[in-house]
Amino acid sequence: MLSIVWIILLSSTLCHGLDNGLAKTPPMGWLSWERFRCNTDCINDPDNCISEQLFQTMTDIVVADGYASVGYEYINVDDCWLEKHRSHDGKLVADRKRFPNGIKALSDYIHSRGLKFGIYEDYGNYTCAGYPGIIGYEEKDALQFAEWNVDYVKLDGCYALPFDMDRGYSTFGRLLNITGKSMVYSCSWPVYQIYAGIQPNYSAIQTHCNLWRNYDDIQDSWASVENIIDYYGNNQDLIAPNAGPGHWNDPDMLIIGNFGLSYEQAKTQFAIWSILAAPLLMSVDLRTIRPQFKHILQNRKIIAVDQDPLGIQGRRIYKHKGIEIWSRPIGPLYQNFYSYAIAFVNRRTDGTPSDISVTLKELGLINYSGYRVEDLYENVDYGVLYPNTKIKVKVNPSGVVMLKGEVQFPVDL
Ligand code: GLA
Repeated sequence: MLSIVWIILLSSTLCHGLDNGLAKTPPMGWLSWERFRCNTDCINDPDNCISEQLFQTMTDIVVADGYASVGYEYINVDDCWLEKHRSHDGKLVADRKRFPNGIKALSDYIHSRGLKFGIYEDYGNYTCAGYPGIIGYEEKDALQFAEWNVDYVKLDGCYALPFDMDRGYSTFGRLLNITGKSMVYSCSWPVYQIYAGIQPNYSAIQTHCNLWRNYDDIQDSWASVENIIDYYGNNQDLIAPNAGPGHWNDPDMLIIGNFGLSYEQAKTQFAIWSILAAPLLMSVDLRTIRPQFKHILQNRKIIAVDQDPLGIQGRRIYKHKGIEIWSRPIGPLYQNFYSYAIAFVNRRTDGTPSDISVTLKELGLINYSGYRVEDLYENVDYGVLYPNTKIKVKVNPSGVVMLKGEVQFPVDL
């Protein structure tokens, strides 16, 4: 009987996409993977192992140190939270030693601090680190997540067949939906298909997922960040149009404040991620982050670019001899003239800042009433500039200058 009800429910939602009303702007929060990986050794490394204590501590810091007040709201568990086997009745069980109070208690803790709770699973037989996956248990697991009051599900794609993903990911999205508990749905569907030589069906993906990974895992290095920046620039015609309110490309976590990025490089990652309308998921030890990196992560002006309600993903509009210019249309709008966020990136390594000089017109800013231009890192206000005005910026090696040009209305209006 129950399964008949389930089938009826399923078919009644078959024609609809995700439409869960969530992630109207890219999700912001904290995610364990890049920094804390699959450290399960709570005996020798109790402060850094994947455990309820780690997530509680990060929750406390997100609230106490001002991250929540600039928009970071999800505390997301990644891989390695599970026991290696399901319970005798087929349920997912959190590792009993590392999560002694169970997932519902962690979820309650995070909610009691005013934040939201995310969890990780995998569409295949196993998660990437070898814990039980959801295949064969999709309904059970969707209901379990709802019972745990999960707000965000990242569904990875290891140990699964990429050809099955069109069906599998969309089905699980529907199963999440019909639990009645709204959950942001983060998919790894395209990236595994691309690796398998399949051209992803992005129009299907964007109707079923709130965000999706297109490319490699980020690692703790500038080379990795550059590699990701190049991927999103080189493939922007295919990728950028799929982003919009409720559905986003995910270039992976922010590694700002870890070991691999200099201050300049960290600023570049934050600037480009905001141009890409990327989810802002910090993966860093918030207990020990240096103030200068915290400052980057809490830059409200750049966060506002990322969170721009129009939700248009930006693009690389210039690339020559190590200099790149990235541009994103944002609000406010005057008639059909957008405002813009512009990132000037210096990929050169020749030790001295590079000058870039360009007219607003060359950047596509052609409204005759002009643009109020300000620097989003340096708090410099250039005043109102016009399409023929030439602006000159000095960009440090592997660094960025980020400007916003806010469209001006004609004075007689
Ligand atoms: C994959 C994902 C990562 C992370 C790991 C966990 O590699 O892309 O983001 O979730 O699995 O094992």
